[in-house]
Amino acid sequence: MRVIVADHPLIAHKLTYLRHKDTDSPTFRRLADELVTLLAYEATREVRTEPFDIETPVGPTTGIKLSTPKPLVVPILRAGLGMLEGMVRLLPTAEVGFLGMLRNEETLEAVTYANRLPDDLSGRQCYVIDPMLATGGTLAMSIRYLVDRGADDITAVTLLAAPEGIDALERELGGLHVPITLVTAAVDEKLNGQGYIVPGLGDAGDRLYGVV
Ligand code: URA
Repeated sequence: MRVIVADHPLIAHKLTYLRHKDTDSPTFRRLADELVTLLAYEATREVRTEPFDIETPVGPTTGIKLSTPKPLVVPILRAGLGMLEGMVRLLPTAEVGFLGMLRNEETLEAVTYANRLPDDLSGRQCYVIDPMLATGGTLAMSIRYLVDRGADDITAVTLLAAPEGIDALERELGGLHVPITLVTAAVDEKLNGQGYIVPGLGDAGDRLYGVV
């Protein structure tokens, strides 16, 4: 797996305010949205394109356009929804699929509790968005689910990642024969005993949507 830590002063600035415990929910949402757009720029560096012949007012030239099938953006419910607008701002023609996954704590099997995706993802480039890569369980299950349905290139975009989560993705996805990339704004120090990223930013879902 390729790990890209997006390195830009604007990203670091927005992330600092996102982490701040006194940042209120409307500001948190706006900052997350802006940060995702900057991450999306980095994450789409290898989006698939094809040549496109056009005429400018002065003469013919060949540019590029996004290839078909169009990329698929997959927010992981619920917190991933807070990243969707920021992502599709740069990829307005992308299709969007939704995925909600839980681990059954008795069997430890992945359970899909919500799925709105095309059945056949053959040849699809997918951008999976989830703000916090903590233990890596949900993200690993989601990526495996997409690859099982034919996706052949996956980029996960997160705001923050814990080293433990990156290790878990490497371990659990190591056998997959498709390129997997992680783009994140920062890799933090560790996970604490409650599974929170340290220093992190707290519970991303709660800070985006309030506690439900
Ligand atoms: N999920 C969160 O929202 N925050 C963390 O720190 C870890 C997982």
